[in-house]
Amino acid sequence: MTHTLTIRRPDDWHLHFRDGVMLEAVVGHTARQFARAIVMPNLTPPVTDVAAGAAYRERILAAVPDGLEFTPLMTCYLTDKTDPEEVRRGFAEGVFTAAKLYPAGATTNSDSGVTDVANIRAVLEVMAEIGMVLCVHGEVTHHAIDIFDREAVFIEQILEPLIADLPDLKVVFEHITSSQGVAFVENASANIAATITPQHLHLNRNAMLVGGMRPHAYCLPVAKREEHRLALVRAATSGSSKFFLGTDSAPHLQSDKESACGCAGIFNAPFALESYLAVFDAENALDKFEGFASEHGPDFYGLPRNEGQITLEKRETEPVPEHFMTSLGPVVPFHAGDRLAWHFAGQLPG
Ligand code: DOR
Ligand code: ZN
Repeated sequence: MTHTLTIRRPDDWHLHFRDGVMLEAVVGHTARQFARAIVMPNLTPPVTDVAAGAAYRERILAAVPDGLEFTPLMTCYLTDKTDPEEVRRGFAEGVFTAAKLYPAGATTNSDSGVTDVANIRAVLEVMAEIGMVLCVHGEVTHHAIDIFDREAVFIEQILEPLIADLPDLKVVFEHITSSQGVAFVENASANIAATITPQHLHLNRNAMLVGGMRPHAYCLPVAKREEHRLALVRAATSGSSKFFLGTDSAPHLQSDKESACGCAGIFNAPFALESYLAVFDAENALDKFEGFASEHGPDFYGLPRNEGQITLEKRETEPVPEHFMTSLGPVVPFHAGDRLAWHFAGQLPG
């Protein structure tokens, strides 16, 4: 018997589309499954003003395959020099849904990021005033801090003081990877939520390092010990409205991942829902999936939930492809070569 699951159309609250050829190659994978996505601004150069955000949105919309309805929700890349009034205007004009804090040097294209949150205090005040969400890459970057501790240290040194200082600011702690991240969000006010990626629900650090280095399991923040993965699984499947879906799908060419200095990022967009569902099913928590995928995110952002529904089916099919070809070269997806039990079976009209 085929087992099916029908839920309200979901959204992806953290996503990298890139630009140019890569953008065109990846947009359809997300637009097929999701109604909206929060699009990260870490292009080269980054999306730091309203004109760049509006232009990038147009390029994304032009790349959406015919017949798919998809709304990109744009983010403003914060730098030490961001003008608070530019952020206010971008939000008022409906160009920017959120702004993104990358600590300088934390990850891909974060060199122009923020060197000290004190430098964006005036921007954050405006965001708190207008109810605009701050998306946070939560890792300190000091070389003396071990990479596996960078999220926990960020909570203590940056995030706790920040939200104590600006309690009205709405913060999404992006792609949390640790039990400390889970506990922090659970104990914080209703203004604090978190996204959780599929890879951090599936992988611990052994998956990246045992039996050889596995560059396709490498992303930032890096996967941690098993106890942390288990804390994330508990949080995602708990039904708590503080946790919601954000894939952090981050395509890089295979050649850039399989390199002496491999890029961080996992391309999970082609089978994102399937990946999450494997975890929810294993936890006997399929009844919690709709909240995580389709309700908690829009509720936190103050946006309407999507109309319409999608159906997923549990049945035997082909393994995930070893790669997707682009004109720049192959990109390897998350779960390449694996068989996933659940399959996206299409959209039902709203
Ligand atoms: O693994 C990651 N890849 N983490 C990030 O924070 C950025 C992303 C990217 O843009 O490649
Ligand atoms: Zn990201």
